[in-house]
Amino acid sequence: MAIDILQISRDALEAQKTNPDVINASIGMFFDEDRVISGMPAVSRALRELPDMSIMPYPAVDGGKDFKENVIAWTFGKHEEAIRKARLVDVCATPGGSGAIAATFANYAKPGEFIFVSNVRWQYERFADRANLNIYEHNTFKDGHFDLESFDQSLGELAQKQKRIIVIVNDPCHNPTGYTLKPEEFQEIINILNKYKNNDLVFLYDIAYLEYTNEEDNRAKMLELLRLEPHVMTVLAFSGSKTFGVYGLRLGAAIGLSQSQEHMTYFRKNYVKEARGSWSATPTISIELLNHFSLPENKAQFETDLNKIKDIVQKRSALFIEEANAIGLKTFPFSSGFYVIALTDEPMAVYERLAKRGIYAVPMEKGIRVALCSISLKEVKGLAKKIQDAL
Ligand SMILES: Cc1ncc(COP(=O)(O)O)c(C=O)c1O
Repeated sequence: MAIDILQISRDALEAQKTNPDVINASIGMFFDEDRVISGMPAVSRALRELPDMSIMPYPAVDGGKDFKENVIAWTFGKHEEAIRKARLVDVCATPGGSGAIAATFANYAKPGEFIFVSNVRWQYERFADRANLNIYEHNTFKDGHFDLESFDQSLGELAQKQKRIIVIVNDPCHNPTGYTLKPEEFQEIINILNKYKNNDLVFLYDIAYLEYTNEEDNRAKMLELLRLEPHVMTVLAFSGSKTFGVYGLRLGAAIGLSQSQEHMTYFRKNYVKEARGSWSATPTISIELLNHFSLPENKAQFETDLNKIKDIVQKRSALFIEEANAIGLKTFPFSSGFYVIALTDEPMAVYERLAKRGIYAVPMEKGIRVALCSISLKEVKGLAKKIQDAL
């Protein structure tokens, strides 16, 4: 479904100018309870206070040594040492998680090939279109769980046709459903990837919402990556936009993980080449923002701010789900995070009816995505019923 989320959001903002009751539940940005992106005070402060000399010059194309070390430490957390012991790791800074995804498509797929994704997903086709790639889908859910059977079967079909396959998994807090894979589901995904030994797999693990999950150890799944066999190259797509709530700043990274020196040489050479020949370099201020918050004393402030946001989003989702359950509005299975999907077989028609009633949400495969991150608790109240009335 070719829809432009940014355009829907612009429409909503325009409509809000004449009618303040308009609800803009379209976009994946955290707005506070007063409808402003005040996000994380520690982040705003850091952006204002970073010294000129650390933000004005051109950065290293890959982000530089400190950035690379810091991204690795940030992403793997307490499991960093175990991961570094067992795998080679490298990083290239990218303008957002988007840059990591686009570069991965450019580096590991040839025009005309397929990438492997779930049928309910964020807009990976935008990147696929540009790289002249096709989409090969598996079913996402069955009986309220991740559909492992379809994942295996569809990957098996594609593995017969195409030697090198980029397999995308977006977890935790899957966009657009808010589903987080259970540990045993993630383990089984790893087992399935290991089965296709005659193929070269690139496991593109999109962790844009890593900080927003309620899992007890939100990095525990990283250790599972160590079970991947040599035919699988892992690329993690890190998003600073979501992590720090700095959507327009363009901060991200591609993190490569493999036991093969050959894989890593390819990774290093090609991501830097891709960066140099397209976006040139990731903004220095973005790189320095991550470096700033990697210092323990600054990270503590970030965590305080993050917990506040998580708490607010959690309250919004709890209210929405409670009301949806009470009136029988069906959603895809939801765990935590920025979004929830209300199910409908007519997403376009429902989207249009809702927009006419001043509610802007996003039509998706099989449903309407409600961005709980962007609406206040007051707006959430009664929203499930308004959506049900539009079905
Ligand atoms: C699932 C997912 N991956 C990646 C991204 C990319 O984010 P950015 O490029 O802003 O870091 C987004 C943004 O909405 C997303 O929802």
